Amino acid sequence: MEGRIEMAVVIFLISASIASSIPFIVLHGINDQCKNEGPANFTRLLSGYSGIQGYCLEIGDGTIDSWFKTMQEQTDIVCQKVKEMKELRGGYNIVGLSQGNIIARGIIELCDGGPPVNNYISLAGPHAGTASVPLCGTGVFCKVADALIKSEIYSDYVQAHLAPSGYLKIPTDIPAYMQGCRFLPKLNNERPNERNSTYKERFSSLKTLVLIMFEQDTVLIPRETSWFGYYPNGAFSPVLPPQQTPLYTEDWIGLKTLDEAGRVKFLSVPGKHIGISDSDMQKHVVPYLVDDALWKPYQETTSSGSPFPSVEDVMDRT
Ligand SMILES: *[C@@H]1O[C@H](CO)[C@@H](O)[C@H](O)[C@H]1NC(C)=O
Ligand SMILES: *[C@@H]1O[C@H](CO)[C@@H](O)[C@H](O)[C@H]1NC(C)=O
Repeated sequence: MEGRIEMAVVIFLISASIASSIPFIVLHGINDQCKNEGPANFTRLLSGYSGIQGYCLEIGDGTIDSWFKTMQEQTDIVCQKVKEMKELRGGYNIVGLSQGNIIARGIIELCDGGPPVNNYISLAGPHAGTASVPLCGTGVFCKVADALIKSEIYSDYVQAHLAPSGYLKIPTDIPAYMQGCRFLPKLNNERPNERNSTYKERFSSLKTLVLIMFEQDTVLIPRETSWFGYYPNGAFSPVLPPQQTPLYTEDWIGLKTLDEAGRVKFLSVPGKHIGISDSDMQKHVVPYLVDDALWKPYQETTSSGSPFPSVEDVMDRT
């Protein structure tokens, strides 16, 4: 009898620690790549604070592919990677940065046969679209990107060649958006006769959805898109809070279901686009990567130069 109780306790402890230590992945934004300091430090810090293994998943070549591979292609690549990584088989959490959140939702909603996603923490995601894409800047490939940004954004050509055209939503051009935009209308179940209840089932099965908006964000137009807030069709004002958008009221993807179950955290933090402070990381991200019980204070973990294996290392081992 006693032996059985001890065994039960041991099994409970083992399963509790497994449930509490699922890994996380980081999906970086546009014009960035895992080996850049931003995403690399971010992943390393989150791992350090949480004591949990994190993987920054790269898409193709990184920066250039973040501009020129469509959101569907980027989603397909990450979907394939999460299915191949044996570390993720018991479930995992996702942390998305900016455009990486469009991929994150693509993984959650569209990735057939992928491992289960537990918590999803979104930093500055253009969830309801964005009304403007900032120009790329200097450099050879930026000339190409900027030419595409300035041309017919909902044309087949731009849709097939410029990643952010997949979630650019001009409120005064909704018919063209609904017809031409290839990715966000699908992800948000916006087209009435193409709604797919599987996307809603999958999205509403998240344990917790954490939506972080940055108070000084000038990249996302409007910044409230980080919470699924957006302009009404036809005008650039006012910004509707998420609860007043049809996506929410008609519950196209399960946001309302999640919110009514108390599983959505709408958070606003000081800072520019994705400029989260270390203390806000610890307060608003880390608790969803660990179960609160296992949270331990930050310790720097590095000994070798590269404390965390790359995805390629991991996949070689599997
Ligand atoms: C990244 O971390 C390194 C080492 O701690 C630090 O020197 C560097 O300034 C950080 N870079 C950024 C962009 O935060
Ligand atoms: C809905 O999406 C699921 C998952 O991708 C897919 O298997 C199914 O065929 C889709 N249903 C329709 C009606 O398109």
